[in-house]
Amino acid sequence: MHTENTAIRLRPVTDADLAVFRQMAQDPESNRMAAFTSQDPYDMAAFDAHWARIRADDTIVLRTVVDGTGTVVGNASVWGPPEERSVSYAIVRTHWGRGLASAALAALLAEVTERPLHARAAADNAGSLRVLTRNGFEITARETNWAHARAADTEEYVLLLKA
Ligand SMILES: CC(C)(COP(=O)(O)OP(=O)(O)OC[C@H]1O[C@@H](n2cnc3c(N)ncnc32)[C@H](O)[C@@H]1OP(=O)(O)O)[C@@H](O)C(=O)NCCC(=O)NCCS
Repeated sequence: MHTENTAIRLRPVTDADLAVFRQMAQDPESNRMAAFTSQDPYDMAAFDAHWARIRADDTIVLRTVVDGTGTVVGNASVWGPPEERSVSYAIVRTHWGRGLASAALAALLAEVTERPLHARAAADNAGSLRVLTRNGFEITARETNWAHARAADTEEYVLLLKA
């Protein structure tokens, strides 16, 4: 259990954060773990277009995760159509294992009170499944879908945080 170094805050995304997110999006280990990534994380035009689109979309709650020292350590969001509002998050690899994703999701769930919320994680993404289940999500289904980062059909769990 993490008792120190887990102080985080969420704030809106700034232009300067994008350099950190770009590095994170190109981290091979992070992408292999997440599995269901963009088609080509090295396509900078696609990265810029994606972030411009989601930052301009006011149905998306998009937050930068900042740690107790003020360092940008990741991002977290609630997105999707009303019938399938979903959470996503990622933490910069050098900050993994500090409890930051668990704390960031807890903060996001405190800020965004709509329920139910959905999530998906590769069945072997033990870290993300732990983050979700400790925040109240339950596995409701199992699917196999194409994962760009693995260039393979990959098993994923569908999770739900009930009302
Ligand atoms: C998944 C991710 C967000 C976790 O971030 P994090 O800040 O390291 O997460 P936390 O420290 O809050 O918690 C991770 C938990 O999973 C556990 N964990 C991590 N890797 C694990 C593994 N391979 N096997 C078992 N447990 C693991 C940790 O021990 C911790 O549990 P604990 O607090 O009980 O010890 C981060 O690894 C990441 O950004 N991965 C790439 C992107 C991604 O997968 N996003 C989610 C897509 S669904």
